[in-house]
Order: sequence, then C-alpha cells, then structure tokens
Amino acid sequence: MKSHPIILGLFIVLSLNSSDTQAVSSAVEPELNQLIKRGEYLARIAGCNDCHTTGYALTAGNIPKDQWLMGDQLGWQGPWGTTYPSNLRLSMAKLTEQQWLNMAKTAQFRPPMPWFTLRDMEEHDLKAIYHFVQHLGPAGQPAPAYLPPGQAAKGPVISFPAPPPQP
Ligand code: HEC
Repeated sequence: MKSHPIILGLFIVLSLNSSDTQAVSSAVEPELNQLIKRGEYLARIAGCNDCHTTGYALTAGNIPKDQWLMGDQLGWQGPWGTTYPSNLRLSMAKLTEQQWLNMAKTAQFRPPMPWFTLRDMEEHDLKAIYHFVQHLGPAGQPAPAYLPPGQAAKGPVISFPAPPPQP
C-alpha cells in the first residue's frame, strides 16, 4: 500500500518532536535564561522601569517583578501633547523578535520616551529585553491613549515647559 504523503509528513514531525527537539531545547535553555537575566538587569538600569512601571521611581524600585512594565496612568505633558508610558507586557507580546528589533532600531516615539536609547542599543541587549518581557508574559491594562496638544488629560500629569530654543 502506498503511504499518503500527509501521513508520512506527520510521522516525521512526530518523531522529530520526541527526541531531537528535546536535545535542542536543553542546549538552548541556558542561553535563553542568560538573555532573560540580562533583560531584567537592563529594565532596572536602562530606565525602562522608571517610566513603564507604576511607582517604580518613587519606591526606590521596590515593586514586585510580576508588576513590572505594565505601563503607567501618569501622563507626561508638553508641547507634544500628553503621552503615557505604554504597557510593554501587552504591546511586546504581540511582536516576534524580528519585529521588535526592527521597531527598536527605527521607530521614533513621542517624548519623553528615549527612543534613541533603543536605536543605539546593541542587538544582544535588545534581544535580552525582548525575552525578559516575553518571560514576564502579557498582563495589565493598556495605558491611556495619547492626547494631542490642547486636549485636557483626565488623570494626573507631569508638565514640561517647551524645550529651550536651539542654539
Ligand atoms: C522617561 C520615561 C521613559 C523611559 C525612561 C522609557 N520609556 Fe518607553 N515610553 C515612554 C512613553 C511616555 C511612551 C509613549 C510614547 C508615545 O506615545 O509615543 C513610551 C513608549 C515606548 C514604546 C513604544 C510603544 C509600545 O506600545 O510598545 C516602547 C517599545 C518602549 N517605550 C520601550 C521602552 C524601553 C525598552 C525602555 C528602557 C530601555 C523605555 N521604554 C524607557 C516613556 C519612557
């Protein structure tokens, strides 16, 4: 009897799954754990938590890790309007690693998001942040939506004066 090609294909996939991928994943795991650790370190020292984690900067960083990077209700208001640090746990969960790298290297967000920090970050560190956020997993609510200049914010805001004139 001739084997049906789909059944044959399925058989190959199943047999690959049982032994070979186990060997691969145990080799990859220490590397992934290292990335996750580095991502946590970067979230602490590269300022991500300072803005994207509610209360972080006001509690000397004393916020449990499972509440990190869920965005903030505190608005940042200036000539650009009012921006809210995004819930990275939700927004980054939707991205593949490659999409994240592309975004980090090219996107320009509104103030005070230091997008140039992401642009200048080494790819290894960008990957570390990505895998740390994936490891934390999606959680929380989206941050309030951006408000254009002149539109009143409902909650508290930090108000910036216009930037100094360029020399
Ligand atoms: C000074 C405050 C501040 C710091 C520090 C900061 N962010 Fe942001 N971030 C913001 C704000 C505000 C926005 C929303 C900008 C907008 O609406 O265009 C934002 C937007 C973003 C976005 C894009 C929007 C999205 O939905 O994903 C990403 C990604 C991001 N931040 C990642 C980071 C990472 C990673 C770090 C640490 C390296 C960081 N931010 C540090 C304030 C900050």
